[in-house]
Amino acid sequence: MRMGEFVPVARGDEIAPGELLRVEVDGRLICLANVDGTIYAVDDDCPHIGGALSDGELDGCVLTCPVHLARFDVRDGRVLRGPAREDVPRYDVRVEDGVILVAAPGELRCSRRDTK
Ligand code: FES
Repeated sequence: MRMGEFVPVARGDEIAPGELLRVEVDGRLICLANVDGTIYAVDDDCPHIGGALSDGELDGCVLTCPVHLARFDVRDGRVLRGPAREDVPRYDVRVEDGVILVAAPGELRCSRRDTK
């Protein structure tokens, strides 16, 4: 798997508008966010101390970490409120034939989820 290669991670109907979904690409957990029908992808690990962002809350494009309530913009991963100080890594997303694909995070092998 090459960095940036698009990997199928979920069906589009698995994540409704306003919802979050945790998916995995070769051991790396990624949080999908559906903002009014557009899917975004960021690391599931909060850059503060690793809270699971997919267990947080999504309000518009603002994702709130469930642990210490840091906020991020899922469109670009930008940190909006501490205690996190760093942006959360984000990944490019495509939707093809009802399947959500995420750009591979790096030099990682893909472990595909069953998308049927
Ligand atoms: S772990 Fe996310 S704000 Fe602390």
